[in-house]
Amino acid sequence: MSETELAVVILAAGKGTRMKSALHKVLHPLGGRPMLHHLMDTLEALTPSRRVIVVGAGKEQVEKSVGNDAEIVVQEPQHGTGHAVQVTSDQLRGFSGNVLVLYGDVPMLSVATLQDLINVRQGTARPAVVVLGFEPEDTKSYGRLELDEQGSLTAIVEHKDASEAQRAITLCNSGIMAVDGSVMFDLLDQLQNNNAAGEFYLTDIVAIAKAQGLDCAVSVASEAEVIGINSRSELAEAEALFQAAKRQKFMDDGVTLLDPSSVYFSYDTIIGTDVTVEPNVIFAPNVVVEDNVTIKGFCHFEGATIRNGATVGPYARLRPMADIGTGAKIGNFVEVKKSTIEASAKVSHLSYIGDAIIGAKANIGAGTITCNYDGYNKSLTEIGKGAFIGSNTALVAPVKIGEGAIVGAGSVVTRGVSGDALVVTRAKQKEIGGWAATFRKNQEKK
Ligand code: UD1
Ligand code: CA
Repeated sequence: MSETELAVVILAAGKGTRMKSALHKVLHPLGGRPMLHHLMDTLEALTPSRRVIVVGAGKEQVEKSVGNDAEIVVQEPQHGTGHAVQVTSDQLRGFSGNVLVLYGDVPMLSVATLQDLINVRQGTARPAVVVLGFEPEDTKSYGRLELDEQGSLTAIVEHKDASEAQRAITLCNSGIMAVDGSVMFDLLDQLQNNNAAGEFYLTDIVAIAKAQGLDCAVSVASEAEVIGINSRSELAEAEALFQAAKRQKFMDDGVTLLDPSSVYFSYDTIIGTDVTVEPNVIFAPNVVVEDNVTIKGFCHFEGATIRNGATVGPYARLRPMADIGTGAKIGNFVEVKKSTIEASAKVSHLSYIGDAIIGAKANIGAGTITCNYDGYNKSLTEIGKGAFIGSNTALVAPVKIGEGAIVGAGSVVTRGVSGDALVVTRAKQKEIGGWAATFRKNQEKK
């Protein structure tokens, strides 16, 4: 095993009671993805050879969510953060690389910050423990980092156990640390729980290491990166930071946001350049927007692709597998699901298009509905290139409209229509001359 090999331990056994949720805290979404997955995705850049997640209640949920991407260890009951790392003994005792200890509810860390932490661990001083510190605006009940005159870390004091003088220290413990795997369990084995919480504090390994003559160090991160999420309001704060970063990134990359704070992105949103997004638009997961697209206000997208030069909205809803072609137009109050709208086709007003293929340059009139569902099965509607579908048409799938065909307004189309044909299914118009005038006269006599 190489000294630089990396194991990560993600602590997630805390009760998470403040979340008041049946869903495990670390599975609550941030930017449309469980916070645990944000963290695990960040870790991939560090190519860890071992990934261990420590859970208490909700093991099945976490297991289901991470699949084979990590080993799950149960800590039951929970006797503190030190105890939480101790329970990985079966997995990691004997591992002599770096062990990165993380919290499942601290998901906003950057790769650079974690890489710095590991670099300090690998540095010439070879500290046994490197703690990620930060200077919060409000020191709350964070553990405080005590340094000696040389600036090396001597101890971490928990707020509960701290003196007034120690509480005045502004450098706090984020909880994240990199530990020399070859000494980690020796240090953990010496932990005691004679403290205010009656717990085995992981933080105590610093003083234990120092007492053995091992060096300990601090690496410093910004508060925004190390914020923990313990409640719905902290989740909302983290979401706000996440969204602010996404908005900035998209603007930096050539996207115009008319009112950035009203536009919400997902972790995986992809947007090209020279795209304009008007206010109040939500990008749920799995949306791709190519270049030169205009998105008007009040739209909701999920699992959709919008191709070069298309215009969408206002008030459009694109659901999974909606593929809006080059230069196509999706207008107001239009819902599209699992449908391909080919180049320059138009669905301008008040339509539902589901399980359909709309050919290039076809024009779908106002109020057109694809009747794709009979209560049991979903069926396909195919509309040929250049076809014209009159307003208020119901297309009862499965049905195929040929290229260049015209469907008269108000039709209910149940059978295929040949290319270039006209089809009208509504009742013939009937006129009775003077009827209205006679009707009014009779009414007024009463
Ligand atoms: C811990 C640190 C404190 C630091 C703070 C940062 C200790 C003793 N204290 O305090 O110095 O400033 O984090 O937020 O480490 N967990 C388990 N099993 C347990 C207990 C906790 O897995 O038995 C997990 C929790 O799920 C959580 C993390 O460890 O992800 C931190 O636990 P928490 O109770 O929030 O620690 P604090 O007391 O806030
Ligand atoms: Ca906490």
